[in-house]
Amino acid sequence: MAALLLLLLSPVWSVASAGGWEDAHATFYGDETGAETMQGACGYGNLFQQGYGLSTAALSVALFNGGWSCGGCYEIRCTNSSYCARGGSAPVTITATNLCPANYSKPNENWCNPPRRHFDLSKPMFLRLVTDFHVGIIPVRYRRVPCVKTGGVRFQMMGNKWWVAVLVFNVAGDGEVRAVAVKGGRDGGTWMDMTRNWGQVWNAHPRLVGQGLSFRVVAGDGRAVVMDHVVPPRWAFGQSFQAKGQFA
Ligand SMILES: *[C@@H]1O[C@H](CO)[C@@H](O)[C@H](O)[C@H]1NC(C)=O
Ligand SMILES: *[C@@H]1O[C@H](CO)[C@@H](O)[C@H](O)[C@H]1NC(C)=O
Repeated sequence: MAALLLLLLSPVWSVASAGGWEDAHATFYGDETGAETMQGACGYGNLFQQGYGLSTAALSVALFNGGWSCGGCYEIRCTNSSYCARGGSAPVTITATNLCPANYSKPNENWCNPPRRHFDLSKPMFLRLVTDFHVGIIPVRYRRVPCVKTGGVRFQMMGNKWWVAVLVFNVAGDGEVRAVAVKGGRDGGTWMDMTRNWGQVWNAHPRLVGQGLSFRVVAGDGRAVVMDHVVPPRWAFGQSFQAKGQFA
């Protein structure tokens, strides 16, 4: 028990592959329920069902990188503010699940306009960083950290019989996805590269309707994992499937 506790408290893992701390700002959006944080620009739907919960943030345009940053995990700590909870000593860890949009008619007030680095946290995450949420916007320091997820990489079938797409989520390790390929059970072992549509939604070919599917996912750090027979032939649109494979 004591050994387990030590393991859980040990910061060694995250520090090992984390980058340095950088400056940004943060505020919050939505209320304590997180309802407004659902259905974001990464394509993740219900964040509770998909395992992200309220540990999420919308990234400013510069950090969002056109959606390539979706799924990445960040440690964020309050800094340089008398409103920092526990003197800024307690960071939160979030997954990027949404875009904080630019508004070019408000060039100075909008913190999400490029080149600003800004996080719109769910309100529960923001409340863990500050002593009083009325402070609004706080300076923060942030760094990328490995994502810790439960179970395998998950795939949700989206679209209709003319347009088939696959949402890739619950990605551990780097968390970002750089490339996805799919192999249909009747396609004789041929991998087809998928193109990214938006967020973490990847286009597939309508011929995959009625086929069992295997996936090859390349993470943002270049690591690739092949996940065979993830989706059975009789899949339906809207269904999610969990692979045995994972990155961490
Ligand atoms: C916090 O203060 C330090 C020292 O004045 C400064 O270098 C740093 O940029 C500040 N960070 C933020 C996020 O404002
Ligand atoms: C941008 O800001 C202007 C001025 O406040 C506002 O009228 C407009 O609705 C905003 N646009 C978007 C896309 O939010």
